[in-house]
Amino acid sequence: MEPTQYRTEPVSFARRGGRLSERQQAAWDAVAQTYVVEVPDNGMSTSVDPDYVLDAEALFGRKAPLVVEIGSGRGDALVHAAQEHPEMDFLGLEVYVPGVAQTLVTMRHLGVHNIRLMVVNAAEALRTMIPEGSVHELRIWFPDPWHKKRHQKRRLITPEFARLAARVLEPGGIWRLATDWQDYADQMLEVLEQSPDFEFSGTWAPRFEGRPVTRFEGKGLGVDREIRDLVAVRRDPLG
Ligand SMILES: C[S@@+](CC[C@H](N)C(=O)[O-])C[C@H]1O[C@@H](n2cnc3c(N)ncnc32)[C@H](O)[C@@H]1O
Repeated sequence: MEPTQYRTEPVSFARRGGRLSERQQAAWDAVAQTYVVEVPDNGMSTSVDPDYVLDAEALFGRKAPLVVEIGSGRGDALVHAAQEHPEMDFLGLEVYVPGVAQTLVTMRHLGVHNIRLMVVNAAEALRTMIPEGSVHELRIWFPDPWHKKRHQKRRLITPEFARLAARVLEPGGIWRLATDWQDYADQMLEVLEQSPDFEFSGTWAPRFEGRPVTRFEGKGLGVDREIRDLVAVRRDPLG
């Protein structure tokens, strides 16, 4: 019997399964084979085999600027952006399978094809799977806030993660973030300010016009939370 594998680092997500609705299942059965990429793992679900390297040109069948969205949820922002920018390719990394299935529902409905989805832990994908300097833009909208003190070590945006973001971005590539948790926004600001790899204004950015109000943005607005956007540019050379 194979030994049971455990992760040594905390992950930034709690749930990934759940039932698919009838529409989600129908979309999954019809088009997952085309749009959901099977990533070789290292024995644990959502893990990434460190020897697997993404070939975006082969995946999309063309050479185009690549935008990566982490935690794309139900695909609200991803599908909108892909529809607005048919000249670009969009990769969504999301561990929540019903969210990925819902993204397929919307893609089918709108006839959007320039998206690929992967059910993977994005931190691992950035560490080894995505080639260095290959990403035009990296977007993370409303990452899980892990607001309780004892859970904050699970937050995605840390100095180590900023290193990974810088690794995959092309020189001059853009990292966009948004959150509705002020305390997490402050943490993001500090991470960007202290990163040697990014040019950063040191303050909040205007709301990104290319983002529709996502499900989680809507929830934050519904309870009167302030939305904070941040933008940083990958330095050349890295710091
Ligand atoms: C709060 S939701 C936000 C979803 C969407 N961006 C929105 O604004 O509605 C955070 C999402 O990130 C996903 N997520 C968290 N950690 C992740 C990771 N390490 N890799 C991939 N997805 C992750 C979760 O499954 C969840 O769907």
